[in-house]
Amino acid sequence: MKVELRGVTKTFEGKSPVVALDSIDLGVRAGEFVCLLGPSGCGKSTLLNLVAGLDQPTSGDVLVDDRPVRGPGTDRVMIFQTAALFPWLDVLGNVEFGLRMSGAVRREREDIARRHLRMVHLLDFEQTFVHQLSGGMKQRVALARALALDPKVLLMDEPFGALDAQTRDLLHDELQNIWSATAKTIIFVTHNVREAIVLGDRVVVLSPRPGRIKQEFVIDLPRPRQIENYAVVDLSREILNVLKDGGQGAVLPGDGRPGTLS
Ligand SMILES: Nc1ncnc2c1ncn2[C@@H]1O[C@H](COP(=O)(O)OP(=O)(O)OP(=O)(O)O)[C@@H](O)[C@H]1O
Ligand SMILES: [Mg+2]
Repeated sequence: MKVELRGVTKTFEGKSPVVALDSIDLGVRAGEFVCLLGPSGCGKSTLLNLVAGLDQPTSGDVLVDDRPVRGPGTDRVMIFQTAALFPWLDVLGNVEFGLRMSGAVRREREDIARRHLRMVHLLDFEQTFVHQLSGGMKQRVALARALALDPKVLLMDEPFGALDAQTRDLLHDELQNIWSATAKTIIFVTHNVREAIVLGDRVVVLSPRPGRIKQEFVIDLPRPRQIENYAVVDLSREILNVLKDGGQGAVLPGDGRPGTLS
């Protein structure tokens, strides 16, 4: 397994301790695309943080390449809902920034950055500053910046959750292309059932807090998939039922737009 959680429990201590994750067993194979679905507060971001090494489990083990995660590393990169880009740098500067640590010289950094900007179709915008970009473009820059580091594992926390439907669909296509070209291992958190089906080899449904694995679905539909495919819509009904069952009202009725659970 590329990433493995064995009996992982995470409790946040405080006046009233919160059990965010309870006895999670999850293995993700190298090159696999796994989507996590679950009601708000069920511990999805917590799970990504544990894999990223930004936090430690209360009990159980988090392993990457069979070794316990001791902290963050460039082999695992996180992408958030709003791209945390540097406003004082242009697009190229943002993408090559992470490479400065790697000791690559400027020319080399720029070559790598441009290669990844081409992947996300932003090569013409390398001198554009962050405030001049749309939300979708910012997420593309964040994706290029992450990919430029050549991590083996991408951890994506609702990365398209704040985008309009058209931009999101476009990014679904791009991410599917990039994933098949680069064979990254991806753990992708979303609230959107159809998005999970479009992207995932496997969809893992978590229960309301404390997050436990409720059910897993292997998605063997042919790729590339689109959000409006009949098979995607059909399967989304089935998965939505699992989510709703015991969802305690946390599952909102929706229309497939980001931020809803259909
Ligand atoms: N650093 C922290 N300290 C205390 N409690 C925390 C911390 N991080 C998360 N929690 C709690 O753990 C639970 C799970 O939070 P988490 O952010 O993982 O949920 P989530 O599934 O990502 O939710 P959402 O879908 O809304 O993003 C929540 O009850 C949250 O309040
Ligand atoms: Mg979250």
